[in-house]
Amino acid sequence: MRISRIASLILGFGGSVGVHAFFAPDQEVLSSLRPGPDTVNGRRPNIIFILTDDQDVHLDSLEWMPHVKKHLLDQGTSFTKHYCTTAVCCPSRVTLWTGKAAHNTNITDVNPPYGGYPKFVTQGFNENYLPVWLQQAGYNTYYTGKLFNVHTVDNYNSPYAAGFTTSDFLLDPFTYNYLNSTFRRTGEEPQSYEGEYVTDVLTQKAYSLLDEAVSAEEPFFLTIAPSAPHADIQMSGSILDPDPVFLYGAPVSAMRHEHLFEDVKVPRTKNFNPDEPSGANWLLHLEQQNQTNVDWNDHFYRQRLRALQAVDEMVDGLIERVNQHGIMEDTYIIYSSDNGFHIGQHRLQPGKSCGYEEDINIPFIIRGPGVAANHTTDIVTSHTDLAPTFFDLLGIPQREDFDGTAIPVTRSGLDIESASERRREHVNVEYWGFAGGEGIYGRELHEHNTYKAIRIVGSGYNLYYSIWCNNERELYDMDV
Ligand SMILES: *[C@@H]1O[C@H](CO)[C@@H](O)[C@H](O)[C@H]1NC(C)=O
Ligand SMILES: *[C@@H]1O[C@H](CO)[C@@H](O)[C@H](O)[C@H]1NC(C)=O
Ligand SMILES: *[C@@H]1O[C@H](CO)[C@@H](O)[C@H](O)[C@H]1NC(C)=O
Ligand SMILES: *[C@@H]1O[C@H](CO)[C@@H](O)[C@H](O)[C@H]1NC(C)=O
Repeated sequence: MRISRIASLILGFGGSVGVHAFFAPDQEVLSSLRPGPDTVNGRRPNIIFILTDDQDVHLDSLEWMPHVKKHLLDQGTSFTKHYCTTAVCCPSRVTLWTGKAAHNTNITDVNPPYGGYPKFVTQGFNENYLPVWLQQAGYNTYYTGKLFNVHTVDNYNSPYAAGFTTSDFLLDPFTYNYLNSTFRRTGEEPQSYEGEYVTDVLTQKAYSLLDEAVSAEEPFFLTIAPSAPHADIQMSGSILDPDPVFLYGAPVSAMRHEHLFEDVKVPRTKNFNPDEPSGANWLLHLEQQNQTNVDWNDHFYRQRLRALQAVDEMVDGLIERVNQHGIMEDTYIIYSSDNGFHIGQHRLQPGKSCGYEEDINIPFIIRGPGVAANHTTDIVTSHTDLAPTFFDLLGIPQREDFDGTAIPVTRSGLDIESASERRREHVNVEYWGFAGGEGIYGRELHEHNTYKAIRIVGSGYNLYYSIWCNNERELYDMDV
């Protein structure tokens, strides 16, 4: 993010900005204009959704994934202004699977009592979220990988996550343990994969779920949710236990990738480890990182890129199988992440939880029937829009309680909407609680990391405005 300190001086602390003036018109009119492709080639389409964990746009991670480029970016449309609305796993995932903002799900944290799988269940969402709705609409649903935080080897069956034809979930406390994962497949006991590389285990599971989905000869929605490139965490017990110990380390790659990218470093953008503090609130007290710290964070960065290589290979094999099955013409393939990531920007240690661009602007790439190839659009979209978008693609009538709006993903949809002119131009960003680094330095928690913010992108303006719980305010002109 480029920061305009001048803008922040003019309109910052105590200033009032008429943000409502930027809100875009009327969404209802638009939906009637959009064609609802409930069948493609006379058949109901499938969706394969790849959801990585903590993958950035602004640290250039996608540029190190040649198969994602070849199969998805070159063959599909990339939404360069796609945002998560809460920059941390569980609230963001619940928003994604319900189409509701976190202030409406009341799932505002990763852990109980305010978040995690137990909170998802007590809020009533296990009977009322995307996979359940898809099944009601006649879809088979498959999932492998991480669903939510605090979905554990002890609570996965009380109750079972509803809505899946077959699932093979990664479970806590092994979710982020790259070399000792535990998965649990429908109808079986949890199984440990000690010593195996988690993404390779997940890849085989994804391929076998794809085979299962195709052989059922029903339209399907398959989610593949790798834990890469999240930090490695060795947990002893889950957060529900009396004294859990969480040991954070850099992401771990497969052995075949461990020597790649030896000279690569975090991009040294203008906001990287700046000489003066930047941001607001607790960020203003961060010390500039010394060389030892910067070097280690560069190592952490390389480990992220290395860990993503197995995901990239998974995508390559997936596309090959989709082609072999002869279903490419009927299948949307979507790639995204739950939230973004920062390393060193504003002097921050590796982590997320901030409202700044690195943490909220995330990959969203789609290829499929009618979707333009090798295309990018800068219409403003968010994770709140994904459930409505899936409904739209599959021809399911929109729910009244959706907070988001279907994204026009096809070439004709984008044309009819005349892209940026007709759509909403803002994203509501919100966060509750604390922020913490995930590297080995600066591990103290930053309390009072609670803010509401708005990201606005339109013709002639490109702004981020936030109000913190201590009443500090920031306004940035993102073009400066
Ligand atoms: C994608 O578009 C860019 C620029 O528009 C072009 O240079 C590139 O060759 C295209 N790639 C493919 C695979 O078509
Ligand atoms: C949200 O959840 C918290 C924690 O369980 C609870 O105290 C609060 O009353 C809930 N708020 C609403 C509006 O349901
Ligand atoms: C791997 O996880 C299993 C439980 O699934 C546990 O029994 C075992 O001790 C773990 N191994 C290591 C090396 O941590
Ligand atoms: C560099 O910074 C880290 C984190 O604050 C600190 O632990 C370490 O001692 C520092 N090293 C040097 C050589 O100053």
